[in-house]
Amino acid sequence: MKKAFVYTYYFLLTFFLFSATATAQTYSTPSSELVKVEDLWYKNIVIYNLDLDAFKDSDGDGIGDFQGLIQKLDYLEFLGVDAIWLAPFQPSPMEDNGYDITDYYGVNNRFGTGGDFAEFVYQAKKRGMRIITDLVINHTSIEHPWFQKAREDKNSKYRDWYIWSEERPDEWNEGMVFPGVQEETWTFDEKAGEYYYHRFYKFQPGLNMHNPEVQNEIRKIIGYWLTLGIDGFRLDAVPFIIEDPFSDNDDPDYNFDFITDIRSFVQWRRGDAIILGEANVLPEETKEYFGDKGSGMHMMFNFFANQHLFYALAAASPGPLKESLESTRDIPPVAQWAHFLRNHDELDLGRLTDEKRQEIYAAFGPEENMQLYDRGIRRRLAPMLNNRKQLEMANSLIFSLPGTPVIRYGDEIGMGDDLSLEERNAVRTPMQWSDDKNAGFSTADSTFRPVIDEGPYSYHKVNVQEQRQDQNSLLNWTARLIRMRKDCPEIGLGDWKILETGSPQVLAIRYFLQDKSVLVIHNFSEKPQQIQLTEGDAGKTLLSLQEQKTSKAGKQGSHQLKLEGYGYRWYRVKN
Ligand code: NOJ
Repeated sequence: MKKAFVYTYYFLLTFFLFSATATAQTYSTPSSELVKVEDLWYKNIVIYNLDLDAFKDSDGDGIGDFQGLIQKLDYLEFLGVDAIWLAPFQPSPMEDNGYDITDYYGVNNRFGTGGDFAEFVYQAKKRGMRIITDLVINHTSIEHPWFQKAREDKNSKYRDWYIWSEERPDEWNEGMVFPGVQEETWTFDEKAGEYYYHRFYKFQPGLNMHNPEVQNEIRKIIGYWLTLGIDGFRLDAVPFIIEDPFSDNDDPDYNFDFITDIRSFVQWRRGDAIILGEANVLPEETKEYFGDKGSGMHMMFNFFANQHLFYALAAASPGPLKESLESTRDIPPVAQWAHFLRNHDELDLGRLTDEKRQEIYAAFGPEENMQLYDRGIRRRLAPMLNNRKQLEMANSLIFSLPGTPVIRYGDEIGMGDDLSLEERNAVRTPMQWSDDKNAGFSTADSTFRPVIDEGPYSYHKVNVQEQRQDQNSLLNWTARLIRMRKDCPEIGLGDWKILETGSPQVLAIRYFLQDKSVLVIHNFSEKPQQIQLTEGDAGKTLLSLQEQKTSKAGKQGSHQLKLEGYGYRWYRVKN
């Protein structure tokens, strides 16, 4: 009897222990053993980034809004966009394009109401599109009621929501993110009688991430937007969120647990929601950001490859890009790189040597007014390259790198920049829809930021309407490129290998996914290149995805291919 009891006891204990482990495994963050990579939506999509105020104005006040965006969803659908990444749209004095929030739970009335936001979510979902929004939690606006209370009352609970120092810290003028514009990282606040910390502009006081109440509030913000239908967050300024502000500026201490916590919270609330991190870090540092088996961020922008890509374009040789791809290869199977050419900020070249940066400046941003923050270029892609063939090559390349491509509104029609505008606003001018008043962006007499109405990139010459009618336009070319990319899930999901081409100017990447394989080839030089690919590397037969052409391996077991200057080829490999 006693024995039977003991056995039952052990049986039950083992059963409970086993099921506890099994439960823990089932509910742990997805790893490659538990989730098929094919299930991960963010691995095989095209992301389109836009600023609401610059996209489409529906009510004639000169500012783009949610209703305007809704009107243009069919356009985005035509283009082939799967996910829209919206710049911050919450209430804000807009001193940093909305990255200075005064209410995390609202909609800035310049963009419409909460109702307009919900309409947009409905209309985007109706078209099968996902929505990613910025999550700006490193700092608030200085006008946020939390900061107002914090500065006014030392005993307010909000005081500790920010980072203060009675004395001016030794590093008060170090670690500025916007050197040349921003003068300090610790600013004295008259009302508080103390210094507050801010990595960015002084109107963006840094939140104190160590405070459990702040952490709680961040969870609430995430939960709120997930409930309202957001599919993912572009997490702003990740290294600054997790750094210890009192540690050494040049070599800060980081709290990576914070990322793991946010990831678990997101996942508990909504299993397929994602975090796309903005962290311009070195390859060796990425491991901790992605976490083990995907316990960190789902995606990160590959800033490292982006900078080396531009160096490769300037040097007309893919060597530096190849190295950067190899050095960022090793990420968890459930994680993904986001690749981009340009974004809403400056082209940040801060990870390159001075010499390399100067080479890129010479090629793409030679005038001082084109450069910014001692590290980058504040130009749009089209004027930088100023060459349709190279522009196509660069776009084709970004859609064929191992990861998920992200494009910036307007780049699909080759919009230009306005260097008379301050800092990064140069690349944030209104979308050019047509040759009508204000580029068809707004019927207002004046727009919140001027439209580009002069020169080769004026809306009279570069606009959606005209390009839609022209089969050879950059717009229709981009739409075809997106279709081609969607036909190649190998790129977003598969394994990859860089092949020998016999030409230092040409990059060939082969992708493998189960029994499928594609090969993409890009010539970085303006001169034609002859390349040779062995059958062992490139397979027996290459079926072009761009035209009715097939290459069969010759007698010596190799493919001889000729690429025109800045030529690119996409092939399906058949054996
Ligand atoms: C990064 C964003 O991309 C940039 O536009 C912004 O100014 C800073 N974070 C501060 O939020």
